[in-house]
Amino acid sequence: MSFTILGTGSALPAQQVTNDQLSQIMDTSHAWIHSRTGIDSRPICRQETVTQLALEAARQALENAGVVPGELDYILCPTLVGDTITPSLACLVQEGLGAGCPAVDLNAACSGFLYAMDLARGLFAAGQVRRVLIVAAEKMSRLVDWRDRSTCVLFGDGAGAAVLGPGEDLLSLLVTAQGTSSPLRIAAPSGNCPYSQGEGGESYLAMNGQEVYRFAVGAIARDIPRALELAGVTPGQVDHLLLHQANLRILEAAQKKLGIPLEKYAVNIATHGNLSAVSVPLLLDEMNRSGRLRPGEILALCAFGGGLTTGAAVLRWRGTPTDK
Ligand code: ACO
Repeated sequence: MSFTILGTGSALPAQQVTNDQLSQIMDTSHAWIHSRTGIDSRPICRQETVTQLALEAARQALENAGVVPGELDYILCPTLVGDTITPSLACLVQEGLGAGCPAVDLNAACSGFLYAMDLARGLFAAGQVRRVLIVAAEKMSRLVDWRDRSTCVLFGDGAGAAVLGPGEDLLSLLVTAQGTSSPLRIAAPSGNCPYSQGEGGESYLAMNGQEVYRFAVGAIARDIPRALELAGVTPGQVDHLLLHQANLRILEAAQKKLGIPLEKYAVNIATHGNLSAVSVPLLLDEMNRSGRLRPGEILALCAFGGGLTTGAAVLRWRGTPTDK
């Protein structure tokens, strides 16, 4: 027993910040950002909290799935960090929905949605759950260093959610980790213990962009063929590729290695930037709501991020749930 996706949802902050706006507050330009990344603008929270975005995405996904909060058996929230370190974002979502099930955050950076699907697969296989809510939510604008033009222009804020039920539509899923702190790092707050010598550093994202770039292209080219092989699906049978949106050039380089036609790639980076764990479920929701997904179509998902972590999956879109 694996699962099927019963419904999806998403939420973005109202404020959209353009490259030209960024160029008014730092030494950058639309031409540099657009040509290096494919990003033109990104949603950035003005007042919205991570919890509010996650709740809105969760409510949409529940409605889309025809599931009420009381039916949920588990809530998983992939996020780097919610509004508070504790309670977890998942507990705040549970409270906001009025659900009564276990709820926990998990941090696999941009691969978080794939890692959450992996844990959900285990819960379904154990016969422990019938309805699982995954809500990825990130406020990257709070984690980047706005004095560092090479990283702060890349990221945005948002949430993406999916409700899962029992089914056989997860055809394969693999996750990997290659622990290393050097290419991408956000230090934890160091605290004020009078007996400790904290790291003393600031808690902002630091990244070696070129190293992450090479890792990302290699991860996509390695993990998607593996996931397809595990699923018994040929590249020609894939209808849509939903890859983490980190940089348009990463997607183009990966496309050349995979040889799957460009029109099969879902791309929203121009208006969203890098939303970390939210990228993949947001693409899924946008495609679902715009009617681009048809029952039975084959989707290949892939994400890569801090850790370094990766995840890839092959899904059939909405076969018949086994208990509906
Ligand atoms: N505007 C103008 N110039 C800039 C900017 C900017 N915003 N940022 C950097 N530059 C300059 C640099 O200072 C440098 O100038 P110099 O040559 O005079 O020293 C020049 O542009 C080139 O900088 P590079 O860092 O070499 O630029 P690069 O071509 O590598 O592009 C980028 C940088 C876009 C970050 C790219 O490396 C990338 O996309 N990497 C992958 C990032 C990624 O995938 N992250 C995903 C994981 S995130 C997560 O998991 C939380």
